[in-house]
Amino acid sequence: MPTDHVREPTGPRERVLDHGATAVAHPNIALIKYWGKRDERLVVPYVDSLSMTLDVFPTTTTVRLDPGAAADSVLLDGASAGGEPRQRVVDFLDLVRELAGRTERAAVDTRNAVPTGAGLASSASGFAALAVAAAAAYGLRLDDTALSRLARRGSASAARSIFGGFALCHAGQGVGAAADRSSYAEPVPVPDFDPALVIALVNAGPKAVSSRAAMRRTVETSPLYQAWAASNKDDLAEMRAALHRGDLDAVGEIAERNALGMHATMLAARPAVRYLSPATVAVLDGVLQLRRDGTPAYATMDAGPNVKVLCHPADADRVAATLLAAAPGSSVLTARRGPGARLRTGDEP
Ligand code: DP6
Repeated sequence: MPTDHVREPTGPRERVLDHGATAVAHPNIALIKYWGKRDERLVVPYVDSLSMTLDVFPTTTTVRLDPGAAADSVLLDGASAGGEPRQRVVDFLDLVRELAGRTERAAVDTRNAVPTGAGLASSASGFAALAVAAAAAYGLRLDDTALSRLARRGSASAARSIFGGFALCHAGQGVGAAADRSSYAEPVPVPDFDPALVIALVNAGPKAVSSRAAMRRTVETSPLYQAWAASNKDDLAEMRAALHRGDLDAVGEIAERNALGMHATMLAARPAVRYLSPATVAVLDGVLQLRRDGTPAYATMDAGPNVKVLCHPADADRVAATLLAAAPGSSVLTARRGPGARLRTGDEP
């Protein structure tokens, strides 16, 4: 196999399997959101973002080089992928091949433990796993910064899933190659802050508008976008301070206002993009009720109707029960901070 010869002494992420490379990555949820690109081709964000990588819903991706094949093959949850999902993977492999100076086609097999395209960050875990697996399969030796830069080219939120715990993704400076170089993620070490994130799945179906199309429309048409992007800077500074203090109330308040502000920019787009459903609003009412009753709980929502609620681990069961009562028919599960993307070693199942 073309990957046998690469062996690294620095840890499991660089270890390469005999038959291609398999990587596992987890989704992350942004507490300070990324929304909008300043370079569509290079996938460079307008704003910095900060997230928590979760310990649930991993993506497992295997990349095997297939020198005899005329085209890449892409399996997504066991079914052959076509259309845009396949094209995004092929474009990503083209980039990896260009960096590695290689031409072989590949067979990609990716499995999500999360409903794909439902606003639960499957593209973050997906492209983080693909970046780690493809880099190893094509013999690229990349450090975590370079892996996050590479993952960003697949999906900007994926840059953050390279790291476990909390991670910051820089929007970077300049244009073209300078922007590409300076936009990457890095860990934000807050060892003593370990909140729970209760996820209310109000609808696990795929979204009507992709986040990619929705953020483009928001940047191009929403009169609120620039104001939100400017306020993101203050939110980020305050968020970093709150994380370092381990102040759940401040972290939650900033995350909630940042997410609601992002959704406001979409609602003001022309035509409007509305991901929030009646069940989303019912869950948000449940969060308000929890706070009124003295339980710290704070909501954040991404490009879909599902709600993620930040709380103290000791309150997670009460929060989950309240959210379920607020939106009967939804399902809930509690996540904690999870690990960064890594290669799976041969002796793991
Ligand atoms: C709302 O990273 O999925 O989840 O870069 O176009 O692939 P592309 O978009 P994606 O957008 C995620 C947006 C968000 C906020 C966030 O994760 O920061």
